[in-house]
Amino acid sequence: SGNNVSVLPVIDSTNQYLLDRLESLHSGDACVAEYQQAGRGRRGRQWQSPFGANLYLSMFWRLEQGPAAAVGVSLAIGIVIAEVLHRLGAHDVKVKWPNDLYMHDRKLAGILVELMGKTGDAAQLVIGIGINLRMRPSSGQSVTQEWINLQEAGIDIDRNILAATLITELSNALEVFEQGGLRSFIPRWQAIDNYYNRPVKLIMGEREIHGIERGIDDQGALLLEENGEIKAYIGGEISLRGK
Ligand code: BTN
Repeated sequence: SGNNVSVLPVIDSTNQYLLDRLESLHSGDACVAEYQQAGRGRRGRQWQSPFGANLYLSMFWRLEQGPAAAVGVSLAIGIVIAEVLHRLGAHDVKVKWPNDLYMHDRKLAGILVELMGKTGDAAQLVIGIGINLRMRPSSGQSVTQEWINLQEAGIDIDRNILAATLITELSNALEVFEQGGLRSFIPRWQAIDNYYNRPVKLIMGEREIHGIERGIDDQGALLLEENGEIKAYIGGEISLRGK
């Protein structure tokens, strides 16, 4: 095994680069780019990808559990990113359900998992990760979410060390996930969940649900306590109540 890593100066999107080459990839193969001309975010959003400023990384994984397990995988990935950043000196990084990393209540990084494969078959996953390292405010002007980068927080992490550590740790975590699903990740999630035990609102289309956040279940659903009862939700966007 081992990871085959492509280093690209310019590309439309590192996720697209792997999606175009699924046939020839092995689990753990990855690519990084200096610049993305058409970086993608979730919900059809763009991902600002200025040259040399941030980390743009994608990894391929063939997931035996099939497409239904992709939600759980993406949560496990978030945990790994946060833990790697902690180890490299960024101690305040938190996870925000389902797929964001936060620091000081602002977005530091995002995860976009794209998949191919029918229910019942193994799924081909492309896991895309964007981490803000030193993006200038001018580059991030069009970003609608409140964001932060590591430089602003006074943290200097070598991009190559970050990429290499992530690739190793993501591969390890995906192997753990294949053995036992999300279960062993749940306490790790709770320890770094930005909203754990805090009052939140969950917006799901027209619905707005208020509750105390109680972490995740082993399917990756968000647990909210409403009037003493805990309910599980998939989908929607959470924020702190009062914000
Ligand atoms: C989000 O928070 O909306 C997800 C952002 C994911 C961005 C990364 S950057 C590397 C990879 N290639 C892409 O085009 N998108 C992901």
